[in-house]
Amino acid sequence: MRARGWLVVGESIRAATKAGHGNMNCTLRLETTERRVIMKQARPWVEQYDEIPAPSERALVEGRFYEAIGPHSVLQDRMPRLLGCDPEAKLLMLEDLGPTSDYTNLYAGHTLDPRDLDALVAFLGSLHRTFSNSEGDGRFANQAMRELNHLHIFEFPLDSENGLDLNAINPGLSEAAAELRRDADYTKAVSALGELYLRSPGTLVHGDFFPGSWLRTKNGPRVIDPEFSFVGPPEFDVGVMIAHLYLANQPIGLVQRALAAYADGLSVPQTGKSQELVSSFAGAEIMRRLIGIAQLPLVADLPRKRALLELSRTFLLSPATGCGSATGRGGL
Ligand SMILES: Nc1ncnc2c1ncn2[C@@H]1O[C@H](COP(=O)(O)OP(=O)(O)OP(=O)(O)O)[C@@H](O)[C@H]1O
Ligand SMILES: [Mg+2]
Repeated sequence: MRARGWLVVGESIRAATKAGHGNMNCTLRLETTERRVIMKQARPWVEQYDEIPAPSERALVEGRFYEAIGPHSVLQDRMPRLLGCDPEAKLLMLEDLGPTSDYTNLYAGHTLDPRDLDALVAFLGSLHRTFSNSEGDGRFANQAMRELNHLHIFEFPLDSENGLDLNAINPGLSEAAAELRRDADYTKAVSALGELYLRSPGTLVHGDFFPGSWLRTKNGPRVIDPEFSFVGPPEFDVGVMIAHLYLANQPIGLVQRALAAYADGLSVPQTGKSQELVSSFAGAEIMRRLIGIAQLPLVADLPRKRALLELSRTFLLSPATGCGSATGRGGL
């Protein structure tokens, strides 16, 4: 920090602690004699599993995302400020939003406040509208992270040789996954969607819009962690958000509210194709969170997980039905 001129005269560091739960990066809260800041470094591996390589350029994409939204107060007001970016060290210095929690407790029975949902949907709509002309903007290609996500959403979970012991998570989950993998229509739909995720043009998307990227503050939710951002289909962000409302067993009314509010915020009416794409992405995200590597702290027994996998099938194979038409809490 001193070498980069990030410390003011007389400022020194008092303490460095882990900022919160995170897997990918080394994310610390620094307390100096003057202030508190978050330092986030992307090393060329996954911080929690350092035998797994990961592209360290993700920090630069994240930094560029913060730079891009900076002038747009509707977006900046919902994110921490970028205070510094060291491209060589793949290190970001960010405004500290305080030692608060994310929204992970939604998976453990908490219900999302509709006002928080509205704020999150408004953020997303605004992001997608503001950067709808970003096609060909090389700053946000993020191809390596896009490919990593592609592997973990669309390929790895449906690979019967992936070595994941799902029965250790819920006895019987391996068989449920095997049934899904035997469904050729389903696996075809997932891989076609994966191609679209990799190649489709679109707008700047957050890329990881789920409760772990939302922080609770007294002024409502803040959005962090755009390291998976890229220029692609906006329906991806919406589908991921909807998937997590289902995974977290939220009232179906919240799903419908989110879909309606997002559609309302668009400058042109949402097409049927776009609604279908939201549904398909929601289906894929539900599936990969249940039978892929990026597991969630879900409170769900096998029958519930089976029902969610069935919902994933419906969303992918009958996307025209829409992902807001399920009934009951959590769509079950
Ligand atoms: N600006 C911030 N203000 C306050 N806390 C923060 C801030 N940025 C990160 N944190 C805390 O650090 C945690 C990890 O941050 P972040 O999600 O950006 O890291 P990550 O390594 O990308 O995590 P993941 O592996 O989940 O993607 C957050 O959940 C939060 O608790
Ligand atoms: Mg992250």
